[in-house]
Amino acid sequence: MILSTSVQLAKTYLEKGGVIGLPTETVYGLAGNIWDQEAINKIFAIKERPKNHPLIAHVAHWNQVESIASDIPAMAQQLAERFWPGPLTMILTAKPDVPSAATAGLGTIAVRMPEHPLALKLLSALPFPLVAPSANPFGKISPTSAMHVFSYFKGKIPLTLDGGNCKIGLESTIIGFKDNAVVIYRQGVISKDDILEVLPNTAVYYDIDSQNNYPGSHRSHYAPKTPLIITESLEETLEKYTDQKIGLLSLGTKGENFSTIAEIRYLSKTNDLKEAASNLYAHLHELDSLNLDVIVAELFPTSDLGMVLNDKLIRASSQFV
Ligand code: TXA
Ligand code: MG
Repeated sequence: MILSTSVQLAKTYLEKGGVIGLPTETVYGLAGNIWDQEAINKIFAIKERPKNHPLIAHVAHWNQVESIASDIPAMAQQLAERFWPGPLTMILTAKPDVPSAATAGLGTIAVRMPEHPLALKLLSALPFPLVAPSANPFGKISPTSAMHVFSYFKGKIPLTLDGGNCKIGLESTIIGFKDNAVVIYRQGVISKDDILEVLPNTAVYYDIDSQNNYPGSHRSHYAPKTPLIITESLEETLEKYTDQKIGLLSLGTKGENFSTIAEIRYLSKTNDLKEAASNLYAHLHELDSLNLDVIVAELFPTSDLGMVLNDKLIRASSQFV
């Protein structure tokens, strides 16, 4: 695999039906031409993703949304005006000619406009939108750097466009529209309150559990190989595992006081949850590569973003699918 910052090179591979690693502000994607059935098949094969899991389409212009979706609610346009480019994915009615491999036959297509400058430059240069799931093997930790993609897929894709570390580091918020209401299916940095600011008179509710049954979302997700223990009390947990090689994901500097910890990674020394979000997957990747016995993480405070981070931790620690 080539790591490159050349949009021209990426374009060449995509036009030939290839699949490439795509940087976005959330996580890296595994991208291909939405109209190319073969490219989509490759994405599923490389990722070892079950076929009934739909993909997110990435666009650079509103007219590309209109090329793949119909009956677009006015609310969707208002939200796009406020949050695009950015980490908001909207589920819309798919045009009938959108390959069912991309929609998993659901009749809907998820769409977003990513904020990363290289992704936008590439998408603007292409005559087609790109479908891209996160660039991790099914069920593994999402990638937030080109090196993560490299270590997962080095013999399997020709190129990853290297856009550095992902600024946000958590997957996009996913919403849909139902009977004039907005439904949040996956939480991300764009919160319910952010949506209500744009649509103050609209009902906005969560339907996370139905998303768990949705093709594409499982309780266990983003999982490291090393068992991840989530705790409310660092002291108690560390006492339990004194004979183990422990890696700690630390918010703040608390971990410095414990001598039994083999490795510490600081999510944010100043307790900044945005900074913690941008580091979460990268630090999990790193701790997971160190042959530790367990990784320990404390629950985050229960603010909006704290709850999103807790959801990611819980999924990463789940040992069942
Ligand atoms: O931040 C992101 O969204 C990243 C970057 C690469 O854009 N992409 C990403 O894709 O997280 P992926 O494939 O890992 O997650 C897509 C999620 C799945 O949970 C899937 O169920 C949901 O989007 N999804 C996609 N299309 C859908 C549809 N038509 N209806 C319901 N859910 C859909
Ligand atoms: Mg994913």
